[in-house]
Amino acid sequence: MTDAWKLQAAERAITLVEPGMKLGLGTGSTAAKFIDLLGAKVKAGLDVIGVATSETTRAQASALGIRLTTLEDDPLLDLTIDGADEIDDALQLIKGGGGALLREKIVAAASERMIVIADASKRVPVLGAYPLPVEVVRFGFPATRKMIEMLSADAGCTGHVHLRMGQDGQPFVTDGGNYIFDCAFGRIEDADALDEALKLVPGVVENGLFLGLADAAIIAGAAGVEVLEARYGE
Ligand code: A5P
Repeated sequence: MTDAWKLQAAERAITLVEPGMKLGLGTGSTAAKFIDLLGAKVKAGLDVIGVATSETTRAQASALGIRLTTLEDDPLLDLTIDGADEIDDALQLIKGGGGALLREKIVAAASERMIVIADASKRVPVLGAYPLPVEVVRFGFPATRKMIEMLSADAGCTGHVHLRMGQDGQPFVTDGGNYIFDCAFGRIEDADALDEALKLVPGVVENGLFLGLADAAIIAGAAGVEVLEARYGE
């Protein structure tokens, strides 16, 4: 069922794409459905250009004939469409389940609008049931883990901090060449405080909290497609 919902969310998002747009192309199974739909539109003559948030997305988009650019050539984008692992009522997100959080956050921040597409299973009252991905440089990563644990506890979050492993039994390595700690905090009551705490840890490159970045979320579920608009600063 969730697969059909992911497609419904992607179908709604594709209606927001206009000719000439510079797009941020997300990563994950939901974003992949959007990129498939975009590829079909491009084949039919739509002229857009995209920045991929991962090597996987780059490969998918280029196989579909979607023109790609970089933030070096196009540092400002019109619209990013991406998935999420968790979404709360304030449109705070956890992302990074697919390991692409760093590029995803850079691309989202470079975009005039970021729209999240997801199935209803991603809606949560409080973030944190999904382990928060934190990308760290490899140098000194056990020391970085200790500091993540300490400063997260100061921000009210405790739980197992687990080094993500790849299918080959070795630590998972991101597109940026870094490791990921998945932090099973259970409940993140104050996401801003945790975000600030994690930013203080030397060795942390980025964390999967996307706060104030999403402008809207298109969420498909049993009740149909719902669009949540951000209300920052109201
Ligand atoms: C990739 O790093 C993630 O941020 C994805 O956007 C997120 O994991 C959602 O993926 P799915 O659409 O596959 O659930």
